[in-house]
Amino acid sequence: MDISIDYLGKRFENPFILASGPPTADAKMIKRAFEAGWAGAVIKTLIREPVKNLHNRFAVNKINETIYAFENLELLSERTPEVWYQDILTLKSSFPNKVIIGSIMGDAKNRDQWLELALGCQDAGVDFIELNFSCPHGYPEKGNGSAIGQNAEFSARITKWLKSEKKITVPIIPKLTAAVTDICYIGEVVAKVEADGICAINTFPSIMGFDLKTLEPKPAIGGYTTAGGYSGPGLKPIALRCVSDLVENPGLPVMACGGVSSGSDAIEFILIGAPIVQVCTAVMLKGYSIVLKMQNELKEFMKWHKFSSVADFLHLGGNHIRQFSELDQSFSAKPKIDTEKCNGCKNCFISCHDAGYMALEMRDNLAFVDYDKCRGCSLCYQVCSTGAIRMVETYQRSVTK
Ligand SMILES: Cc1cc2nc3c(=O)[nH]c(=O)nc-3n(C[C@H](O)[C@H](O)[C@H](O)COP(=O)(O)O)c2cc1C
Repeated sequence: MDISIDYLGKRFENPFILASGPPTADAKMIKRAFEAGWAGAVIKTLIREPVKNLHNRFAVNKINETIYAFENLELLSERTPEVWYQDILTLKSSFPNKVIIGSIMGDAKNRDQWLELALGCQDAGVDFIELNFSCPHGYPEKGNGSAIGQNAEFSARITKWLKSEKKITVPIIPKLTAAVTDICYIGEVVAKVEADGICAINTFPSIMGFDLKTLEPKPAIGGYTTAGGYSGPGLKPIALRCVSDLVENPGLPVMACGGVSSGSDAIEFILIGAPIVQVCTAVMLKGYSIVLKMQNELKEFMKWHKFSSVADFLHLGGNHIRQFSELDQSFSAKPKIDTEKCNGCKNCFISCHDAGYMALEMRDNLAFVDYDKCRGCSLCYQVCSTGAIRMVETYQRSVTK
C-alpha cells in the first residue's frame, strides 16, 4: 500500500519523520533511524556556539508506571555547524530519498548568524530549513528561542531575512510555540513575509513537580529547577488544536509535532490537515523501531476505510472542527447502560452524584439511569471502566452543512 505523501514539493516515503531532539543528535543516529523506516529527520538544532548540556536534565510524570508527560531542560546541538554540514552531506549521499531538514537558531538581532547557518545547511544538501522560534528554556531569557516565537515582529523579521536572501532557495519553515495568546497571529506574520510552511509545536513551558520525599523539584539540578519543555502524550491535544488553527489560518502547509506516540496519533494530525508528522519523545522512550508499528497502523486504517492514499483523508477531520457558536444547541444524547457489561464499580454513580445531575442509581450492584434527571453530559460514559455505557443520539441530525 502506498503511504507516501507530498509536502512542499518533496515526496516523503511515509508521513513519519523525527523531530529535532536527542534522536537526531548526530549522523550515525539518523542513519539508524532511516534504516528503521523513518522518512526523514529534522537535525538537532544548530547554533553558532555548540552548547554544553546540564546533567539530570529530564523528568517524567507517570500514571501506573506509564509515562504520560516528559520534561527537558536540554539545549541545542553539542556539535559545531561545520561537523553537522559534513554529516548532512554524508547522510544525503547515502539516503537520497530521505528528507533531511536543517534546524537552526541564531540571535534574534543577528541577521548574519541566521544566514550563515541557513546557507551552511543548504549547501550541505538539506531539503528544508526549520527555524527554531520555540525552545522554551535557556534561550528565551536571552531574547531567543520561544522569545522569538512569542514576538510577531522578531518572527517576521528573521523569516524575512532568510526569504529575501536570493542565495537561499530551500523552503523555510518556522517552528512555532503554543505558548502564545494566538498562534494564528504569529502564523499570519510569517506567512506575510513568505514562509513556505510552518511546524507546530515545540515543547510547552512547564514545571514538572516535586519529589515529596526530598522536597526537591523535578528535575533537580543541584537542588534547583527552572521551567522546562513539556512533551509526550500530554501535549497532543494542545498540538492538535494549534495545527487545526494554523491549517485554517494562515493556511500554509503544516508539519505537525507534539505528543505523537503511535500511528493512530499521527492519523489524527493528518485528519486535521497536517500531511507530515514529527516525533521526538516517543522515540526517546521506545526507540526508532516504533516507526514500523506506526506504518502498519496507518496501512490498517487506510485498508479499513478503503483510502488508497494518505492524501485521501488529509484534512477530512478538519471539516468537523467548528466555532462553539456553530455547534447545534438542539443536539441531544443520552447514556445507555448494558447491564451485562456493568461490573458495579460505581465510577459512573460517584461522578454523576458528586459532579453531575444525580441521575444514576445503583440497584443490585448495577447502574441505572433516571432519564428524567439526566442531562446527557456524558460524564458517566467517560468514567465507565468496562465499556458498559454508550451515548446514544436522541435527535435527528440535520443534513451536513
Ligand atoms: C530532550 C528534547 C530535546 C529537544 N530539542 C529540540 C531542539 O534542539 N530543537 C527543536 O526545535 N526542538 C527540540 N525539542 C522539541 C521536539 O522537537 C518536539 O517539538 C517536542 O518534543 C514535541 O514533540 P514530542 O511530544 O513528539 O516530543 C526537543 C524535545 C526534547 C524532549
